[in-house]
Amino acid sequence: MKKIPVWMDCDTGTDDAVAIMLAHSLAELDLLGISTVCGNTTQDHAFHNTHGLNGLMGTAYPVYRGAEKPLLKELLISTAFHGENGLGNVELPIPENAVFLQEKAWDALYACASRFPQELRLVATGPLTNVATAFLKYPDLPQLLHSLCIMGGSAGAGNITPAAEFNIFVDPQAAEIVFHSGVKLVMFGLDVTLQEMLTATDLEELRLSGGKAGSFTHACLQCALQSVKRYGLNGVSMHDSCPVMHLVHPELFEGEEAGVVVETRGSVTNGKTVTDLYSDKQFPFKNALVMLKVDADAFIRILKKQIVSLG
Ligand code: BDR
Ligand code: CA
Repeated sequence: MKKIPVWMDCDTGTDDAVAIMLAHSLAELDLLGISTVCGNTTQDHAFHNTHGLNGLMGTAYPVYRGAEKPLLKELLISTAFHGENGLGNVELPIPENAVFLQEKAWDALYACASRFPQELRLVATGPLTNVATAFLKYPDLPQLLHSLCIMGGSAGAGNITPAAEFNIFVDPQAAEIVFHSGVKLVMFGLDVTLQEMLTATDLEELRLSGGKAGSFTHACLQCALQSVKRYGLNGVSMHDSCPVMHLVHPELFEGEEAGVVVETRGSVTNGKTVTDLYSDKQFPFKNALVMLKVDADAFIRILKKQIVSLG
């Protein structure tokens, strides 16, 4: 079986960690590298957490540091949801054999894409600062990639503000560059990611599964679970696992081609992904496949099975 080459760019917080574990667990995928970006947490924590995941999973995925701050805005991190360290205050030690690579995220990504022209799937689960930096530095990169699957945006309401989703709000200028880059873009926004969630019962099941990955998933999501209870929810959406799952199980998802523009100037709407999906007047381009539906039961069933399979 020829494996699908994948690169992940993550602001390694709680659901990013689950997405990385999912990517590792799926035999169809060949995860070639992980770059870290600030967002849910600082660059230092995201980098540390990603190395910590290597320790937990017994892997040695190369980890590359990227942006310390968004292109123009000041960094906004999400401690209420992802804890002080990004992993719900669960400390994953850095393995003794960890190698701290000096190459920057964008250079390493470009080198990898050059080795797999039109084959490499880039999955971005945080603000798009590293991806935009890579596209600015290497203008041929968008066409060199097979596709870019992002968790970000919303055709409907936002989460960090009434209008905007967190990843896009943190760095709207980066998102605008990426949405207008010509890359083959698949957007997993809140429209689809909020349809699935790991409930408190699912998390307990994972804890009782007896494996390290299940216990870690349970522990690191407790902070997020407390946080969403304030909104009357009893589960945490695994936003960042959606683009990873789609690489192997596209049949679980439905979407529509749309024109998408990122609002970078509005005071109330800053960071909103404005789509023409529901408007009579259309933008004169279709630049993204916007995912709108997921088979949530199948998604959660496969996700739990994959986490348990890691032992
Ligand atoms: C996104 O923001 C972060 O909190 C999550 O990791 C996810 O990438 C959801 O809006
Ligand atoms: Ca994320």
